[in-house]
Amino acid sequence: MWQALVLTLFPEMFPGPLAFSLAGRALREGRWALAVHDIRSHGKGRHRTVDDTPFGGGAGMVMRPDVVDSAIAATVPAGDARPLVYLTPRGRLLDQAMVRELARGPGVVLLCGRYEGVDQRVIEARAMREISIGDYVLSGGELAALVLLDACVRLLPGVMGAAESAEEESHAAGLLEYPQYTRPAEWQGRSVPAVLLSGHHAEVARWRREQAEAATRERRPDLWNRLPTHTG
Ligand code: ADE
Repeated sequence: MWQALVLTLFPEMFPGPLAFSLAGRALREGRWALAVHDIRSHGKGRHRTVDDTPFGGGAGMVMRPDVVDSAIAATVPAGDARPLVYLTPRGRLLDQAMVRELARGPGVVLLCGRYEGVDQRVIEARAMREISIGDYVLSGGELAALVLLDACVRLLPGVMGAAESAEEESHAAGLLEYPQYTRPAEWQGRSVPAVLLSGHHAEVARWRREQAEAATRERRPDLWNRLPTHTG
């Protein structure tokens, strides 16, 4: 079974939204497992201190390497095959290819940082994989961990139905999704594109492809220019 372990100072934030919808049903069905561990329990002294001021000065607090290392040592068995991921805006940008790779594996161990981050030495000593979910700064790694887990879990065997799996193919092609329509066929004077009502499957497929390409070209030139047909 695909096993996720989350190391966090805010264990109450889990499973949170992952208890609902697709991920929640899959969790209850035992298609994946979630363990959550409170880093605070490895804190130092009477106050269970987990952070300290940054060497060299500056704002905020940094999570101590010894505390983070204890949390990992207590929860991750030696030889555990799961990648140890540290969620940070300094990380490599998460994309669908990384999600697919993580979902194919045995699971993930996710370290959620707070404050100004985690001491660099434990990141290196534990060979952590640093991942960002986008070019913006969250107040901690917890929401990023929830995003990563949701993206992975929906790809696990038996989690999505056939209809949803087919939809996945469009993103696999590196394009944005085509627009969707449902009933009523006319709403507030707006009609559904006629081709979608025509019953001509080949024409529907062609129209959707054109729409997906136009949206990608206009909205995401970065994705468009990375398509295989546009390289070399
Ligand atoms: N922690 C704070 N901001 C983050 C981001 N954008 N991605 C991953 N972890 C984060």
